[in-house]
Amino acid sequence: MTVRASAPGKAILFGEHAVVYGKPAIAVAVDKRASVTIREGSNDHIQVKIPELNVYGVINTETGDVSQLNSEGEVDQKPGTTDVGIMKFIKSALSQTDLGSSLDHGLDITVNLEIPIGAGLGSSAAITIATLAAAARYKGQELSLENLAQMGHQVELEVQGAASPLDTTVSTLGGFLYFTRERGAVRIKPALEMPLVVGYTSQPGNTGILVEGVRKLRQAHPTIINPLLDVMEKLTNQARESITRGEEKQVGELMNINQGLLDALGVNTTELSRLVYHARRAGATGSKLTGAGGGGSIIAYCPGKTREVLEELESVENAFQVGISSKGVTW
Ligand code: MEV
Repeated sequence: MTVRASAPGKAILFGEHAVVYGKPAIAVAVDKRASVTIREGSNDHIQVKIPELNVYGVINTETGDVSQLNSEGEVDQKPGTTDVGIMKFIKSALSQTDLGSSLDHGLDITVNLEIPIGAGLGSSAAITIATLAAAARYKGQELSLENLAQMGHQVELEVQGAASPLDTTVSTLGGFLYFTRERGAVRIKPALEMPLVVGYTSQPGNTGILVEGVRKLRQAHPTIINPLLDVMEKLTNQARESITRGEEKQVGELMNINQGLLDALGVNTTELSRLVYHARRAGATGSKLTGAGGGGSIIAYCPGKTREVLEELESVENAFQVGISSKGVTW
C-alpha cells in the first residue's frame, strides 16, 4: 500500500513571538508544500528519504533510535543539526499516530520539499502535518482537521519545546488567518492584493532557541517586554482592520513597525536587516522578518513593485515570490 499527503508552508505577516504569549498573529499558507509518501518497507525499520536535502535516515522500530546514513549507506557520525531536527519531527509524528510500533513490517517514507528548511516558512510544521495525515491514512484512521492540528502542535512541543499552535494550524487549514491561542483561527477576507516576496538568508533559524531567548528577555525585563507584547497585539489588530479595508499603505507601515518591535525582542540579525532595507529601497510598501528570526527569511509586501523587489533581493541573497494558498493539508 502507498499513501501520500501534503501540507503547505506558511508566512507570518504579523505577531510572531507575541503569539506564544496569547497575542494574535496574522499568517498565510503559501503555495510551497511538503509532501510525504509512506509505503510498506523493504526491511523491518522505518527508512526516511528527503531527496531535496540529500538526507537518508533510519528509525529503529525496536529501540526508537534515529540514525542518519551517508551517501555510502553507512551511519553518519556527524549529521547536520537541521537534518537530525527533521527526523525528530517525523519520528514524533509517527509515534503520535502509533504507526511504526503497531506494524509487523517496516516503512519507506519519502519527504519531498518545496519549502526551504529553517527559512521561517513553516517547513517543520508542514512536514509534521503531512506525516501525521499520511500515517493516519496508512492506518485507515479518520482524523478531523482539528485533531490533526492538535497532534501537530503536540509534535512541535515535544521536539522544539515552547511553541504556539500557529504554524501547525496554518499548515492544516491553509488560507489567510487571524489566530489567537484562545479562539483559534478565523479566516480573513483581504480587500487588497497581497503580492509577497520572500528573501532568505543562508542561515537557518532555530525556533526553539529563539522562543527561549524571548522568554528569558521577558523574564529579565517584564515591565519593558510585557507592554511591548501589548503593542504587538494592538498592531496585529490594527493590521487586520487595514487588510480587510484595503489600506495598502497602512499595512506596509505596520509591517515596518512590527520589524522594529521584533528587533527589540532580540530576534533580528544583521543579514535580516540588510534584506529588509534592500526590499524597502526597491519599493516594498512594508518588509519585516517572518517567523522566528535569528536567520531565516524576510517577507516584503510589494504592490506594483514585485519584480523590482525580487530583483533587488536576488542581487544580495536568495529570493522568490510566494502566493497565498487556500489549500491546507490534502490526503
Ligand atoms: C515561528 O514560526 C513562530 C513563533 O511565533 C513561534 C510559535 O508561534 O510557535 C516564533
